[in-house]
Amino acid sequence: MRAKITIIGAGFVGSTAAHWIASKELGDVVLLDIAEGIPQGKGLDLAESAPIEGFDLKIIGTNDYADTANSDVIVVTSGAPRKPGMTREDLIKINAKITRDCISKAAPLSPKAVIIMVNNPLDTMVYLARQVSGFPKERVIGQAGVLDAARYRTFIAMETGVSVEDIQAMLMGGHGDEMVPLPRFTTIGGIPVTDFIPAARLDEIVERARKGGGEIVNLLKTGSAYYAPAAATVQMVEAVVRDKNRVLPAACYLTGEYGLNDMYFGVPCVLGAGGVKKIIQLNLNNDEKALVAASAAAVKSSIEALKGMDLDA
Ligand code: LAC
Repeated sequence: MRAKITIIGAGFVGSTAAHWIASKELGDVVLLDIAEGIPQGKGLDLAESAPIEGFDLKIIGTNDYADTANSDVIVVTSGAPRKPGMTREDLIKINAKITRDCISKAAPLSPKAVIIMVNNPLDTMVYLARQVSGFPKERVIGQAGVLDAARYRTFIAMETGVSVEDIQAMLMGGHGDEMVPLPRFTTIGGIPVTDFIPAARLDEIVERARKGGGEIVNLLKTGSAYYAPAAATVQMVEAVVRDKNRVLPAACYLTGEYGLNDMYFGVPCVLGAGGVKKIIQLNLNNDEKALVAASAAAVKSSIEALKGMDLDA
């Protein structure tokens, strides 16, 4: 049986994710958007590439949630992107309304799905998606850490001139400029990254990774990144539909891990069929704990802002 993967939002992130899902043959794809014709056009266009690329999948675009029924994975990319000068937090109200609408329509039709949220402010939108869906915490997660770690790994590869494939890195925290790349948990071919890059230079690379989303927004001017966000999302989809048990950073619901409660936050986890199988608790040192606490405070205040909002106003 092929997996059924719904992508809500046929913009750049959604359609690029559909493209990579198809080329990896991860499952049938339903691309849904409120804009009439856009998901149908993109879905048909992608389906018409199949004879050349050689994937045997059903790919459709639609405006009708009924077509998403019984999905194994629901990816939510819908929402306004940042413009230059905006923070991810500036998107909270508009994207909360969109998230509530999408999840309230999609979740009841696919009660066994794993929901992967991709819209911003990420950790807050996952929190809302869990509330609205009522799904167990293991099946509602957020994509951010894979993307943020990929940026960090890319910059390390650029610095050292070695293959990106050999650069492994863990990263924690919310998907904001306070995120916490972890040099102590970063290796190149199994060798500590600090053997390759002096501490002061590594600090600069960490800082660039933290601001990596904004760097792309400032270059594009009309929207935010999509290739790397889509690739990161598809890696999570693959972990779920192929039950790979990948060790990846993801926004997970915390119930006491790292001293944090009732919030979503980027942590290392084991991701496979059914979503999060385990949250991994790293033994952080005091400096790392302080950085994680600062990031957690930023996420908490965003979630509190959401709770204080009237989404019907
Ligand atoms: C980024 C946005 C999409 O990090 O959050 O590129």
